[in-house]
Amino acid sequence: MREYKLQERSSIPRLYQEFASWWPILSSPEEYAEEADFYFTTILGASSHVPVTLLELGSGGGNNASHLKHKLKMSLVDVSPKMLEVSRRLNPECEHILGDMRSIRLGREFDAVFIHDAIMYMTNELDLRRAVETAYVHCKPEGVALFAPDHVKETFRPTTMHGGHDEEQRGLRYLEWNWDPDPSDTSTLCDFAYLLRDEDGNIRCEYDRHIFGLFGRHIWLQILRDVGFQPKSIPFEHSELEPGSCEAFLGLKTGG
Ligand SMILES: C[S@@+](CC[C@H](N)C(=O)[O-])C[C@H]1O[C@@H](n2cnc3c(N)ncnc32)[C@H](O)[C@@H]1O
Repeated sequence: MREYKLQERSSIPRLYQEFASWWPILSSPEEYAEEADFYFTTILGASSHVPVTLLELGSGGGNNASHLKHKLKMSLVDVSPKMLEVSRRLNPECEHILGDMRSIRLGREFDAVFIHDAIMYMTNELDLRRAVETAYVHCKPEGVALFAPDHVKETFRPTTMHGGHDEEQRGLRYLEWNWDPDPSDTSTLCDFAYLLRDEDGNIRCEYDRHIFGLFGRHIWLQILRDVGFQPKSIPFEHSELEPGSCEAFLGLKTGG
């Protein structure tokens, strides 16, 4: 694994540190097939030629990558060494790089750059801009960047969800509570309760708080434009989501 100096501290939730090995039974790769297909089709449709290389920033456990890697040569960047370890087990054929999406500079360009839900960890405009800039400098001329936040300000609703899976010896169930204590700022809270069942059948309950960024559509489009992309908002379509409830952002890097 290549390693780049992490230039700044990042407040990484417990899920991506001490609980990272539980990730595949919190969120299993099979659940990502439909959305990965949407992301691939979107990138392909926006590209002027068939893309070959894809850089994913904030690739986590590599669930999207486990599908996309069959169509694209993928390089995966994450700020958590433990999540990279999980992804490396699932995607040994992909390049894995330790780095922060706000500051990493690989010195090379890709046909496309993708930031999935990890973009939610950009909680202020400056950080969002820095992540979009990272995408821009790693995109080839005529390349495409795709950003897929869970919400924009216009569509955010408080939600409560649950899920989890079993593996041979262990099991996990979670409750996820998304809420916004201060609608006037650019962040929301995502509180998790995890029930973790170990190999001996013992269950413990753990709490974890994730702080997410939330920006209006016009802020997204403005930042993409400022950084140099030709921006576009597109509806995110998925069989489990109400039409119009979610959107993604495309940035086209024009010129040479
Ligand atoms: C929900 S996981 C991503 C899962 C991924 N979409 C998948 O397909 O498996 C979010 C990831 O974002 C990473 N992350 C958070 N802040 C980051 C940053 N500043 N730079 C790079 N990665 C970051 C976390 O370490 C975590 O692995």
